[in-house]
Amino acid sequence: MDLWHVPLEIDERLADAAARVLDDAERARAQRFAHPHDRRRWIAARAALRHILGAACSMPSDQVRFRLGEHGKPELGQAGDAAVHPGAPDAPAFNLSHSGVLALIVVCDRPVGVDLELLERADERHEDIQSVFSPAERAAIAAAPLTQRPLASYRCWTRKEALLKAAGCGFALDDTTRFTVSIDAQAKLLGSNHRRLAMGEWSLRALEQPGTRTGAVAVRGAMPPCTEHHWHWPA
Ligand SMILES: CC(C)(COP(=O)(O)OP(=O)(O)OC[C@H]1O[C@@H](n2cnc3c(N)ncnc32)[C@H](O)[C@@H]1OP(=O)(O)O)[C@@H](O)C(=O)NCCC(=O)NCCS
Repeated sequence: MDLWHVPLEIDERLADAAARVLDDAERARAQRFAHPHDRRRWIAARAALRHILGAACSMPSDQVRFRLGEHGKPELGQAGDAAVHPGAPDAPAFNLSHSGVLALIVVCDRPVGVDLELLERADERHEDIQSVFSPAERAAIAAAPLTQRPLASYRCWTRKEALLKAAGCGFALDDTTRFTVSIDAQAKLLGSNHRRLAMGEWSLRALEQPGTRTGAVAVRGAMPPCTEHHWHWPA
């Protein structure tokens, strides 16, 4: 599994250059952002994704084609293609998450999901997200020391979201409360009666930088070794 850290803060000149690998639909989507910095960040993430997948598939980055899975999960392939996963070694699975100035992109040989949250404003916001948690998760968060609750909540959120993104099954509130993840440093699926998240079928790994960000990657099956890379834009 390859995990890329992609800085998204690029200037207009670089955004124009990066946008050259995007297709017409992607350029049109980029133009719909109201704020120029959101547009530049989205272009940066999508351009880096194309370069990384192009290299993984030995093809030019502007030739990479995406199709959307049943619940909008982007996958490699053209609309109308047969499913490319599992079992197509030449078509890796991937997933992307952005938060503020950073994106994480994961490329893997099995279904994968990633989620990232910068912890800025976690203290103010963590109480607003409690409704997506299972009763066991809410109890574990409430039992944590007051100062640890924002981090515990965001660990819980990103682990759940990574699992749901890996399974590619979309987000419905009644579903998010049907499974329970850990809130301590080790990321684990602790219990589930979610139809797409059977116990023993999924592995989680925490992705954290203390005090700055939390996140998680989820894969189907055992967690493979992970190589981390840092994306650099040309000067
Ligand atoms: C995309 C979505 C699945 C996650 O959004 P998010 O956390 O705001 O954004 P992230 O940056 O982590 O992920 C976005 C990327 O995930 C990918 N993605 C989109 N739909 C996806 C899906 N159904 N499954 C997996 N990945 C998906 C895309 O690459 C997308 O990037 P893009 O917008 O540049 O195309 C969003 O549609 C959603 O429904 N969010 C609900 C959040 C929620 O209620 N979570 C409950 C926590 S348990």
